[in-house]
Amino acid sequence: MSVPIVSTLAELRATVAAWRSRGLRIAVVPTMGALHEGHLSLVRAALAECDRVVVTLFVNPKQFNSAADLAAYPRTEREDAAKLAPLGAHMLYVPGVDEIYPEGFATTISVSGVSEGLCGAHRPGHFDGVATVVAKLFLQTGADLAFFGEKDFQQLHVVRRLVRDLDIPIGIVACPTVRENDGLAMSSRNVRLLAVERRAAPRLAGILFETAEQLSKGAPVGTALAQAESAIVAAGFEEVEYLDLRGEDDLAPLTTVDRPARLLVAAMLGGTRLIDNVKVSPSQAAMSDPTKFKKVA
Ligand code: PAF
Repeated sequence: MSVPIVSTLAELRATVAAWRSRGLRIAVVPTMGALHEGHLSLVRAALAECDRVVVTLFVNPKQFNSAADLAAYPRTEREDAAKLAPLGAHMLYVPGVDEIYPEGFATTISVSGVSEGLCGAHRPGHFDGVATVVAKLFLQTGADLAFFGEKDFQQLHVVRRLVRDLDIPIGIVACPTVRENDGLAMSSRNVRLLAVERRAAPRLAGILFETAEQLSKGAPVGTALAQAESAIVAAGFEEVEYLDLRGEDDLAPLTTVDRPARLLVAAMLGGTRLIDNVKVSPSQAAMSDPTKFKKVA
């Protein structure tokens, strides 16, 4: 069995219209290819919820900050199609640049607030590129549901805000980060790590989980973050771009864990930028003190 590959908007629209005429429910899983188990978990989740699943593969030039990073991004379309076939995905949409950004394309979608800080502060324009391409992919596929991984936690917030603000009729489904056996969050960028770097990389997740546990037990946030940052550098990372505690529901900076939170990190290892995040639960004491715990809808 193989997955049909579609490269034009006209063919995508005709196929989707035929599915719609049969009342089928459609999912989209946006990707930039180089598929790994994290992406495949999104496809499985989509197949469980919908009758038809479109996986998109578009290495979006507008979300890269450097031409070198764009050029180095892994492109493995044939292998990606082979990975999708046994799952039963119904289409791999691989548009050319002209199908997404035709001659004269002049629109940029910019989501303020949640795009700022964290990755937004270190990758100027990145989330404008993400928001613009994601809006196009939602409108082109006309899907009912879209599936995203929690590893890109800020991206998830940007996409949720985008569909709310623009009334795009699509549901956003968040799926848990998939990790290697040693804890490293799966990422298409992991293939760039040299053997020695690959051995050091899982410490990032290890330090995040250890710090999240300390924070949940009431450790002071400033001290815990400073210690974690030193530990990341001691593990061989050359730079910690950010290590921050944010509200789970709004990404607001937190100085105490008085509501469900996320600990988010971006760090450079041998020139490869790794990001990760873990949940931080408020301690039972904070939860049971009604003056401290802000209830999340
Ligand atoms: O997460 C990604 O792979 C990309 O940012 C996305 C959502 C496919 C948009 O290009």
